[in-house]
Amino acid sequence: MINFYGKNYLKEYDFNKHQLEILINLAEDLKTKEKHGIPHRYMSGKHIALIFEKQSTRTRSAFTVAASKLGASVEYLSKNDMQLGAKESVEDTAKVLGSMFDGIAYRGFGQETVEALGEFAGVPVWNALTNEWHPTQMLADFLTVKEYLGTYHGKTVTFVGDGRNNVAHSLLVTGAILGVNINIVAPESLQPTLSVQKLAMDLQHQSGSKSLITSNVEKGIKGSDVIYTDVWCSMGEEDALEERYNLLHPYQVNQELVDMTGKDTLFLHCLPAIHDTTTDVGQLAYEKFGVDGLEVTDEVFRSSYSRVFEQAENRMHTIKALLAATCGDVH
Ligand code: CP
Ligand code: NVA
Repeated sequence: MINFYGKNYLKEYDFNKHQLEILINLAEDLKTKEKHGIPHRYMSGKHIALIFEKQSTRTRSAFTVAASKLGASVEYLSKNDMQLGAKESVEDTAKVLGSMFDGIAYRGFGQETVEALGEFAGVPVWNALTNEWHPTQMLADFLTVKEYLGTYHGKTVTFVGDGRNNVAHSLLVTGAILGVNINIVAPESLQPTLSVQKLAMDLQHQSGSKSLITSNVEKGIKGSDVIYTDVWCSMGEEDALEERYNLLHPYQVNQELVDMTGKDTLFLHCLPAIHDTTTDVGQLAYEKFGVDGLEVTDEVFRSSYSRVFEQAENRMHTIKALLAATCGDVH
């Protein structure tokens, strides 16, 4: 029974285990429907706004395509199109957009902005990434694990790299809700903040899963079913490249590191990834540090156990489920 119509998704723990599982299962169902050409226009005649203050390839496209396949129209509003927070308060913007649109996605900096939108819009608001959390990413990640490992329950997903960023924090908390063991392998200064660790521990008491947060690569990797990484400099942190390289180069996901799992494993990455020198950042890393790839090598990125593009496609199926459940007439 899907009964969270009108609900915001501002961070993972807005939803409980049962609700997150409903969304992941609904995404699987909608993916099957789409592959078989079965209509599912659960948002026919609705309109959604996408407010994006940061760049995006996957999330913006996923919202746009998902909404369109559900029958809704989409309006994209970039930072330059609006006066959000500059000449117009978030509260006033939320009230205006909420009076016209049936739902609002927001990508930007502080979590407080998406929380304020959620408080004042009067329509569902979805967090499309903030500095703190990336909740829509999590739906795709756990759907991908389910598809390729049969289940995520009781599996161990190990995040290696900047353990203090939005994706690492979201993974730790979502795993704790869903009953997935999450290891975070990172140098001490880039391990999850204490408040997020505490939140995860509280949630683990209910789900029975565990986490290991360590700077010891071998200890953290051993026995992992999934190795996950993300960029070393998140959007807005581009100037920290040298500092991050110095801290994180022992944590690069390469074949030697993956072999430490001692078992077959999956490789996941939320993307974008710096895995070679074909990007400006990849080229800069090569010039500055003489390396070909940062958080992951090209070998692992393109390996037979890498599921990064399947994971990216699942962004669309899972966002479709989120839209349909909170703003559509799927019951
Ligand atoms: N994974 C992800 O959020 O990608 P984009 O930044 O391209 O949306
Ligand atoms: N941690 C990254 C995720 C990008 C999808 C960032 O915030 O830039």
